[in-house]
Amino acid sequence: MHEATAHARAKRLANPRELIYNKTIPFKGAYSLSSRPIGVFDSGVGGISVLRSMRALLPDERIIYYGDNLNAPYGTRPEEEILALTLASVEALLARDVKALVIACNTATSAAVHELRARLTLPIIGMEPALKPAALASSGGSILVMATPATLRQKKFQELMRQYGDRAEMVPCPGLMEFVERGEIDSPALDEYLKDRFAPFDNVDAIVLGCTHYVFLRRAIRRAMPGALLFDGNEGTARRLQDVLGAENLLNSEGPGSVEFITTGDPDVFMPIIRM
Ligand code: DGL
Repeated sequence: MHEATAHARAKRLANPRELIYNKTIPFKGAYSLSSRPIGVFDSGVGGISVLRSMRALLPDERIIYYGDNLNAPYGTRPEEEILALTLASVEALLARDVKALVIACNTATSAAVHELRARLTLPIIGMEPALKPAALASSGGSILVMATPATLRQKKFQELMRQYGDRAEMVPCPGLMEFVERGEIDSPALDEYLKDRFAPFDNVDAIVLGCTHYVFLRRAIRRAMPGALLFDGNEGTARRLQDVLGAENLLNSEGPGSVEFITTGDPDVFMPIIRM
């Protein structure tokens, strides 16, 4: 598809149908740059795992969470589609006057963060599979990196593999985020999926959860590969956000914090899942 056409289509698709959940407390008083919200984006509900780490560290911040559930999954799409969908979703957040962006999606980060940083001047925090801490902590066994096919084939991840991947095995997981999107975080079908994925590997001592959706599947993953340490980038991302906001003098000292959720998908499916 031509890039302009793909972008126009993605923009149309990413237009939120409805503002479904609004806990924002209206801001009273002088309007300062630091009191503007932080925009958090994911292809679906996975980024809510990042949002939780952000809320724990930065409880005074106003946050707008944008899930492009209508167009999920991203990780089995071609790069140009992921880029166009990400740009359209980010545009929707920029229209809400965000002071910083968190791309709470490994897939969208690897396909679009470069382009976003070239186009925008606000702070942009992306995700990357936590292979480095896993490599430093593991004790000689192999490290499985679970991620979407799109994340694993990107240059950004291949570079990480060159640096820290001598004991790492890539485990593409098409179809896995869909379990989380439908709220299925514990089921025989999920156990079966994971058993199948892990069957070729033994002597595994670390697993990298290289997709923000998979953080919701910790329990099932532990059951399928007992003894392996699990790593995700969520806390690191929240800390990086805190550092960047601090350095830019953008931390909100006025509070109170709040979260507003927007989905391009079906609110009746999204709402119960965000409470998971
Ligand atoms: N949460 C996503 C990630 O971190 C995405 C999955 C998808 O849309 O396929 O990669």
